[in-house]
Amino acid sequence: MKIGIIGSGNMGRSLGILWAEQGHNVFFGARDLEKGKAVAELAGHGTNGGTNDEAAIFGDVLLYSVRGVNPVEVFSSTEVLSGKILIDCNNFDIPEGFAFQPIVQSLAEKLAAEVPNALVVKAFNTMAQEVFELAPTPLKDYEVSVFVAGDDAQARQVVMSLAEDIGFAPVDCGALRNARMIEGAGDFIRFLLISQLQNPYATISVKILPQAQQQRLGGRQTSNLH
Ligand SMILES: NC(=O)c1ccc[n+]([C@@H]2O[C@H](COP(=O)([O-])OP(=O)(O)OC[C@H]3O[C@@H](n4cnc5c(N)ncnc54)[C@H](OP(=O)(O)O)[C@@H]3O)[C@@H](O)[C@H]2O)c1
Repeated sequence: MKIGIIGSGNMGRSLGILWAEQGHNVFFGARDLEKGKAVAELAGHGTNGGTNDEAAIFGDVLLYSVRGVNPVEVFSSTEVLSGKILIDCNNFDIPEGFAFQPIVQSLAEKLAAEVPNALVVKAFNTMAQEVFELAPTPLKDYEVSVFVAGDDAQARQVVMSLAEDIGFAPVDCGALRNARMIEGAGDFIRFLLISQLQNPYATISVKILPQAQQQRLGGRQTSNLH
Protein backbone atom coordinates (compact mmCIF):
# COMPACT_ATOMS: atom_id res chain seq x y z
CA MET A 1 0.00 0.00 0.00
CA LYS A 2 1.23 3.56 -0.72
CA ILE A 3 1.26 5.53 2.53
CA GLY A 4 1.95 9.26 2.87
CA ILE A 5 2.98 10.57 6.29
CA ILE A 6 1.79 14.11 6.96
CA GLY A 7 4.04 15.52 9.66
CA SER A 8 7.11 13.43 10.47
CA GLY A 9 7.21 13.89 14.25
CA ASN A 10 7.03 11.10 16.82
CA MET A 11 3.85 9.51 15.50
CA GLY A 12 4.56 10.00 11.81
CA ARG A 13 8.10 8.69 12.06
CA SER A 14 7.16 5.67 14.23
CA LEU A 15 4.17 4.49 12.22
CA GLY A 16 5.91 5.21 8.93
CA ILE A 17 8.91 3.07 9.88
CA LEU A 18 6.67 0.23 11.11
CA TRP A 19 4.65 0.17 7.89
CA ALA A 20 7.79 0.37 5.76
CA GLU A 21 9.20 -2.63 7.65
CA GLN A 22 6.08 -4.54 6.64
CA GLY A 23 6.71 -3.83 2.96
CA HIS A 24 4.43 -0.81 2.46
CA ASN A 25 5.66 2.07 0.30
CA VAL A 26 6.07 5.06 2.59
CA PHE A 27 6.73 8.73 1.89
CA PHE A 28 7.55 11.00 4.86
CA GLY A 29 6.22 14.55 4.50
CA ALA A 30 7.16 17.57 6.58
CA ARG A 31 6.93 21.36 6.38
CA ASP A 32 10.64 21.38 5.67
CA LEU A 33 11.53 19.16 2.72
CA GLU A 34 14.96 18.42 4.23
CA LYS A 35 13.33 17.07 7.41
CA GLY A 36 11.14 14.71 5.37
CA LYS A 37 14.21 13.45 3.52
CA ALA A 38 16.18 13.03 6.77
CA VAL A 39 13.42 10.95 8.36
CA ALA A 40 13.28 8.75 5.24
CA GLU A 41 17.03 8.28 5.48
CA LEU A 42 16.68 7.17 9.11
CA ALA A 43 13.76 4.88 8.18
CA GLY A 44 15.47 3.12 5.25
CA HIS A 45 13.40 0.29 3.70
CA GLY A 46 13.16 2.20 0.40
CA THR A 47 11.19 5.08 1.91
CA ASN A 48 11.30 8.60 0.50
CA GLY A 49 10.77 12.00 2.02
CA GLY A 50 9.89 15.54 1.04
CA THR A 51 7.04 17.98 1.51
CA ASN A 52 3.57 17.31 2.91
CA ASP A 53 2.13 18.04 -0.55
CA GLU A 54 4.35 15.36 -2.07
CA ALA A 55 3.42 12.87 0.67
CA ALA A 56 -0.30 13.51 0.10
CA ILE A 57 0.02 13.07 -3.67
CA PHE A 58 2.03 9.86 -3.16
CA GLY A 59 -0.18 8.04 -0.67
CA ASP A 60 -3.50 6.27 -1.06
CA VAL A 61 -3.58 6.26 2.72
CA LEU A 62 -2.32 9.29 4.65
CA LEU A 63 -1.44 9.61 8.33
CA TYR A 64 -2.43 13.08 9.54
CA SER A 65 -0.32 13.66 12.65
CA VAL A 66 -0.64 17.44 12.70
CA ARG A 67 -2.84 18.00 15.74
CA GLY A 68 -5.84 20.23 15.04
CA VAL A 69 -4.11 22.24 12.29
CA ASN A 70 -6.51 22.98 9.43
CA PRO A 71 -5.31 21.16 6.26
CA VAL A 72 -5.71 24.48 4.42
CA GLU A 73 -2.55 25.56 6.27
CA VAL A 74 -0.71 22.32 5.61
CA PHE A 75 -1.19 21.77 1.85
CA SER A 76 -1.01 24.14 -1.11
CA SER A 77 -4.50 22.85 -1.99
CA THR A 78 -6.70 20.39 -0.13
CA GLU A 79 -7.53 18.89 -3.54
CA VAL A 80 -4.51 16.64 -2.94
CA LEU A 81 -6.62 14.82 -0.33
CA SER A 82 -9.48 13.91 -2.68
CA GLY A 83 -10.51 10.28 -2.27
CA LYS A 84 -7.63 9.55 0.12
CA ILE A 85 -7.99 7.68 3.40
CA LEU A 86 -6.88 10.19 6.02
CA ILE A 87 -5.96 8.60 9.36
CA ASP A 88 -6.38 11.01 12.26
CA CYS A 89 -4.23 9.93 15.23
CA ASN A 90 -4.53 13.23 17.08
CA ASN A 91 -5.50 14.06 20.63
CA PHE A 92 -6.34 17.38 22.21
CA ASP A 93 -3.62 19.21 24.12
CA ILE A 94 -3.58 18.16 27.76
CA PRO A 95 -5.11 20.94 29.86
CA GLU A 96 -3.86 21.99 33.30
CA GLY A 97 -4.67 19.25 35.83
CA PHE A 98 -6.10 16.98 33.07
CA ALA A 99 -9.36 18.96 33.33
CA PHE A 100 -10.52 17.97 29.83
CA GLN A 101 -13.67 19.57 28.40
CA PRO A 102 -16.42 17.20 27.23
CA ILE A 103 -15.90 16.37 23.56
CA VAL A 104 -18.85 17.59 21.49
CA GLN A 105 -16.91 17.61 18.24
CA SER A 106 -13.92 15.29 17.95
CA LEU A 107 -10.73 16.35 16.21
CA ALA A 108 -11.53 13.69 13.60
CA GLU A 109 -14.99 15.16 12.88
CA LYS A 110 -13.49 18.64 12.68
CA LEU A 111 -10.95 17.33 10.17
CA ALA A 112 -13.68 15.60 8.14
CA ALA A 113 -15.66 18.87 8.03
CA GLU A 114 -12.55 20.71 6.80
CA VAL A 115 -11.80 18.16 4.06
CA PRO A 116 -15.08 16.50 3.03
CA ASN A 117 -13.29 15.18 -0.08
CA ALA A 118 -11.18 12.80 2.08
CA LEU A 119 -12.20 9.64 3.97
CA VAL A 120 -11.28 10.42 7.56
CA VAL A 121 -10.66 7.48 9.91
CA LYS A 122 -9.81 7.82 13.60
CA ALA A 123 -7.11 5.45 14.89
CA PHE A 124 -3.85 5.07 16.86
CA ASN A 125 -4.54 7.80 19.44
CA THR A 126 -4.90 5.58 22.53
CA MET A 127 -1.32 4.44 23.03
CA ALA A 128 1.97 6.25 23.63
CA GLN A 129 4.87 6.33 21.18
CA GLU A 130 6.77 3.95 23.47
CA VAL A 131 4.24 1.21 22.69
CA PHE A 132 5.03 1.50 18.97
CA GLU A 133 8.67 0.75 19.83
CA LEU A 134 7.48 -2.76 20.81
CA ALA A 135 5.77 -3.39 17.46
CA PRO A 136 5.22 -5.78 15.81
CA THR A 137 6.80 -8.22 18.28
CA PRO A 138 6.47 -8.65 21.20
CA LEU A 139 3.47 -6.27 20.91
CA LYS A 140 1.42 -8.96 19.11
CA ASP A 141 1.39 -11.11 22.24
CA TYR A 142 -0.43 -8.44 24.25
CA GLU A 143 -3.42 -7.81 21.91
CA VAL A 144 -3.38 -4.04 22.27
CA SER A 145 -6.54 -2.50 20.81
CA VAL A 146 -6.52 0.12 18.08
CA PHE A 147 -9.97 1.71 18.04
CA VAL A 148 -11.00 2.53 14.47
CA ALA A 149 -13.92 4.82 13.54
CA GLY A 150 -14.92 6.27 10.18
CA ASP A 151 -18.01 6.69 8.03
CA ASP A 152 -16.62 4.67 5.11
CA ALA A 153 -16.64 0.95 5.99
CA GLN A 154 -14.02 0.08 3.37
CA ALA A 155 -11.66 2.80 4.59
CA ARG A 156 -12.08 1.48 8.14
CA GLN A 157 -11.16 -2.01 6.95
CA VAL A 158 -7.99 -0.70 5.28
CA VAL A 159 -6.91 1.03 8.50
CA MET A 160 -7.75 -2.05 10.58
CA SER A 161 -5.59 -4.13 8.32
CA LEU A 162 -2.71 -1.60 8.62
CA ALA A 163 -3.05 -1.83 12.42
CA GLU A 164 -2.94 -5.62 12.28
CA ASP A 165 0.15 -5.56 10.03
CA ILE A 166 2.17 -3.93 12.80
CA GLY A 167 1.00 -6.14 15.65
CA PHE A 168 -2.10 -4.39 17.03
CA ALA A 169 -5.61 -5.80 17.55
CA PRO A 170 -7.99 -3.49 15.65
CA VAL A 171 -11.50 -2.88 16.98
CA ASP A 172 -14.17 -1.69 14.54
CA CYS A 173 -15.88 1.26 16.26
CA GLY A 174 -18.26 2.21 13.46
CA ALA A 175 -19.13 5.76 12.46
CA LEU A 176 -16.77 8.73 12.70
CA ARG A 177 -18.85 10.41 15.40
CA ASN A 178 -17.66 7.63 17.72
CA ALA A 179 -14.25 9.30 17.55
CA ARG A 180 -15.61 11.48 20.38
CA MET A 181 -15.49 8.43 22.65
CA ILE A 182 -12.17 7.23 21.23
CA GLU A 183 -10.60 10.63 21.86
CA GLY A 184 -12.10 10.53 25.36
CA ALA A 185 -10.38 7.16 25.84
CA GLY A 186 -7.15 8.78 24.58
CA ASP A 187 -7.52 11.49 27.21
CA PHE A 188 -8.21 8.90 29.92
CA ILE A 189 -5.20 6.72 29.12
CA ARG A 190 -2.93 9.78 29.01
CA PHE A 191 -4.23 10.79 32.43
CA LEU A 192 -3.47 7.29 33.71
CA LEU A 193 -0.07 6.83 32.16
CA ILE A 194 1.25 10.33 32.82
CA SER A 195 -0.39 11.31 36.10
CA GLN A 196 -1.30 8.09 37.91
CA LEU A 197 0.97 5.28 36.75
CA GLN A 198 3.91 7.26 35.35
CA ASN A 199 4.43 4.48 32.85
CA PRO A 200 4.10 5.06 29.07
CA TYR A 201 3.64 1.34 28.49
CA ALA A 202 0.19 1.36 30.13
CA THR A 203 -2.45 0.64 27.45
CA ILE A 204 -6.21 0.53 27.10
CA SER A 205 -7.70 -2.49 25.30
CA VAL A 206 -10.91 -4.42 24.92
CA LYS A 207 -10.68 -7.92 26.33
CA ILE A 208 -13.41 -10.43 25.56
CA LEU A 209 -13.64 -12.92 28.42
CA PRO A 210 -14.95 -16.50 28.23
CA GLN A 211 -18.64 -16.88 29.12
CA ALA A 212 -19.42 -17.85 32.72
CA GLN A 213 -20.16 -21.58 32.95
CA GLN A 214 -23.02 -20.92 35.36
CA GLN A 215 -24.87 -17.83 36.51
CA ARG A 216 -24.68 -18.32 40.27
CA LEU A 217 -25.46 -14.61 40.82
CA GLY A 218 -28.84 -14.91 39.13
CA GLY A 219 -27.69 -13.67 35.74
CA ARG A 220 -28.72 -10.41 34.10
CA GLN A 221 -32.34 -9.68 35.01
CA THR A 222 -34.71 -7.13 33.49
CA SER A 223 -34.00 -3.74 35.02
CA ASN A 224 -36.83 -2.18 36.99
CA LEU A 225 -35.41 1.36 36.92
CA HIS A 226 -38.27 3.56 35.61
N1 LIG B 1 3.51 10.95 20.85
C1 LIG B 1 2.61 10.11 21.30
O1 LIG B 1 2.88 9.28 22.18
C2 LIG B 1 1.21 10.15 20.73
C3 LIG B 1 0.40 9.00 20.88
C4 LIG B 1 -0.89 9.02 20.36
C5 LIG B 1 -1.35 10.14 19.70
N2 LIG B 1 -0.54 11.23 19.59
C6 LIG B 1 -1.09 12.42 18.91
O2 LIG B 1 -0.53 12.48 17.62
C7 LIG B 1 -0.30 13.81 17.22
C8 LIG B 1 1.16 14.00 16.87
O3 LIG B 1 1.92 13.74 18.01
P1 LIG B 1 3.51 13.62 17.91
O4 LIG B 1 3.95 13.07 19.20
O5 LIG B 1 3.90 12.98 16.65
O6 LIG B 1 3.90 15.16 17.88
P2 LIG B 1 5.27 15.79 17.40
O7 LIG B 1 6.37 14.82 17.55
O8 LIG B 1 5.36 17.09 18.10
O9 LIG B 1 5.00 16.04 15.87
C9 LIG B 1 4.02 16.96 15.47
C10 LIG B 1 4.00 17.06 13.98
O10 LIG B 1 3.13 18.12 13.64
C11 LIG B 1 3.73 18.91 12.64
N3 LIG B 1 3.26 20.29 12.78
C12 LIG B 1 3.15 21.00 13.92
N4 LIG B 1 2.62 22.20 13.67
C13 LIG B 1 2.38 22.25 12.34
C14 LIG B 1 1.82 23.24 11.47
N5 LIG B 1 1.40 24.41 11.92
N6 LIG B 1 1.71 22.94 10.16
C15 LIG B 1 2.13 21.74 9.68
N7 LIG B 1 2.69 20.79 10.46
C16 LIG B 1 2.79 21.04 11.77
C17 LIG B 1 5.21 18.76 12.82
O11 LIG B 1 5.65 18.87 11.49
P3 LIG B 1 7.10 18.77 10.85
O12 LIG B 1 7.36 17.33 10.64
O13 LIG B 1 6.92 19.55 9.62
O14 LIG B 1 8.05 19.41 11.84
C18 LIG B 1 5.36 17.36 13.40
O15 LIG B 1 5.59 16.42 12.40
C19 LIG B 1 -0.77 14.70 18.39
O16 LIG B 1 -2.07 15.13 18.14
C20 LIG B 1 -0.73 13.74 19.57
O17 LIG B 1 -1.68 14.08 20.56
C21 LIG B 1 0.72 11.26 20.06
